[in-house]
This record gives sequence, structure tokens and C-alpha cells, in this order.
Amino acid sequence: MSTIRSVIKGVGGYLPARVVTNADLEALVDTSDQWITARTGIRKRHIVADGELTSSMGAAAAKAALADAGLEPDDIDLIILATSTPDQTFPASAVTIQAELGITHGAAFDVQAVCSGFVFALSTADNYLKSGQFNRALVIGAEAFSRILDWEDRSTCVLFGDGAGAVVVEAQKLNGVDTERGILATCLRSDGRYRDKLYVDGGPSSTGTVGHLRMDGPEVFRHAVTKISQVITETLGKAGYEAADIDWFVPHQANKRILDGAARKLGLAPERVVITVDKHANTSAASIPLALTEAYTDGRIKSGDLVLLEAMGGGFTWGALLIRW
Ligand code: COA
Repeated sequence: MSTIRSVIKGVGGYLPARVVTNADLEALVDTSDQWITARTGIRKRHIVADGELTSSMGAAAAKAALADAGLEPDDIDLIILATSTPDQTFPASAVTIQAELGITHGAAFDVQAVCSGFVFALSTADNYLKSGQFNRALVIGAEAFSRILDWEDRSTCVLFGDGAGAVVVEAQKLNGVDTERGILATCLRSDGRYRDKLYVDGGPSSTGTVGHLRMDGPEVFRHAVTKISQVITETLGKAGYEAADIDWFVPHQANKRILDGAARKLGLAPERVVITVDKHANTSAASIPLALTEAYTDGRIKSGDLVLLEAMGGGFTWGALLIRW
């Protein structure tokens, strides 16, 4: 039966030039490289320069993804940017990226699901493409989390980094068999009862300020592995696959201990898990497209591979997405 499927055509990433190591952070707060590495697997992160924006990082990643796809900006009719650190409260930073790319047709908007943002954005694009409303989408995750960190709070400031990643997705008419390329299944969840476990203590309608990130780390950790495993099992089930079928697991990069726990629970071999948290730290909505870019560019992810994306973040929000690459 003929069906429309969303096929990944290109990927690209951008990381700010400035690298901050754990040793650099020792000069800032009462922490140690040993503590950060042992608890999180993080060794360094990239941090935006003065004047560098979420939209400029997102546009750089978008241009790289377009080049990888062999497409021009005009070929795109939908831009969805996942971010919790937009340039301004409004307009959406997606329209700034749209203007920077010189696109004046189609639509551009932001999606806010914190660290699950890229999974939510790609799933949203998938539904628009499958419905026939748009033909080619740029799905971008871009974050300047360093701007909302409390640099005196050692329990959070060591965990995050800045960056952007993007994919180009194209609607293709296919026969609907699962060996064909494209997004095979998605699953999104949220539960607002946990919204005070990971949040920013400011906002336009409450304090009138931007605020700083606050987190109950152990509580987030407690929920993460269970929620991640549940949503992965559901997503695989929808497409008729099992964990053993996965070629590459590309999770949101929050903490290596959470990734190891999820992989263990699913019975996935460690060499099938793409890890970038050691180099990038947690870049929120940017972490999955950055990890995809790295694993695709270095030749690990190949056409035809079964790739599983997964994320969990503030809200709580969580979700997974299965792709035949
Ligand atoms: N350096 C040194 N010590 C630190 C520290 C730091 N950067 N941050 C916290 N500590 C201290 C705490 O003050 C505490 O000290 P105390 O025992 O004297 O009170 C001790 O380390 C243990 O703190 P705790 O928060 O219980 O540690 P933990 O083992 O839970 O690890 C996290 C903390 C944040 C690494 C862990 O909870 C975690 O990864 N949670 C998930 C966070 C996450 O991934 N969030 C993003 C989701 S998208």
C-alpha cells in the first residue's frame, strides 16, 4: 500500500569555539574533575561567545544539514526549531533562522519540550509531512543553556553545554514496507505533575525575568531510566521490532550513567550506543542531532540502519522515535 514516509536527507551540527573543561570549572565552583566525570561522564562542554545566539547556532547547523542533503534553502517549506533558550520571548527563533537562510515561503515555528524538544519537533515534522501539508522540513535543536545557568550552583552548572544540530526530512511516497527508509514510529509523553523537578525560576508571565535553571537531580535520575525504557518498548512495539534489532541507539545526552542504565535495561550492547555527553555535556534539544551528526559523519550510521532516538526532559516530557536511516 502506497504511503508517505519522512526520510532523513541530511544532518549537520554546530558547536561554539570555546571549550570549557571540568578543570576550568574547578576555578569557578567547589567541584572536581573526578566528581563530574564519575557522576555524569562529562569531561568538557562548548560555551557560546558574547553575542552568539541560539538562532545563529541553529542557522549554522541548518546550513550544514542542507549541504549534507545537497539541497538549497528554497527547497525547505517547514522549519521547526526545538529550543528552551530562544533569542527573545518572541518572535520564535525559528523565523530568525528562516530569514537568515533567505526563505520567505512556508512556515517556521519553535517547539518547547526542553531536553525532549528534538524528539517532539521531529515527530511534529513527521506528522506534517505524512499529512501532505509540507514537503521538506528542517528540524533543528539549538540551545544556549549557559545563559540560563546559575554559575554559583555547582549541582547544575557543571552539567550543561551549548550547541546546535539539524536534520533535513523529506516526504517520500513509498510502498510502506519497513525495509524502506524513513521514520517508522514515534511516541511522545508528558506528565506535568513533575514540572517542579526541572524548571527555570523565571518567565514573562510570572517574574518578568529570564530566570535560572533549577533541578532536583536525584529525582530526575530516579524517573529517567524507567520512563525512557517504557517509551522505547512502546515505540519498538508499534513498528514490530525488538531492542535486539536496533543498529544504533542515539539517546539524549544528559548523563552517561542514565544512558548506561537504559541500554542495560533494554539489553543493548554498549558499542551500539552513541555517546557524546563526554565532549558536549547536556546540550538539551541539541544533543540528539549533534550525536546523529557525529555518528553519521564518522561512518557508524549507514543507510538502511535501524536508529532509535530517545529523550527525557523537564515537564517531565519524554519520547522516542524509530528511523530506518
Ligand atoms: N561537585 C562536587 N560535589 C557536588 C556537585 C559538584 N558539581 N554537585 C553536587 N555535589 C554534591 C552535593 O552537594 C552532595 O553533597 P552532600 O552529600 O555533602 O550533600 C553530593 O554531591 C551528592 O549530591 P546528589 O545530588 O545526591 O548527587 P547524585 O549522585 O544524585 O548526582 C547528579 C547528581 C545531578 C549528577 C545526578 O542526580 C543526575 O545526573 N541526575 C539527573 C540529572 C539530569 O540528567 N538532568 C537533565 C535531564 S534532561
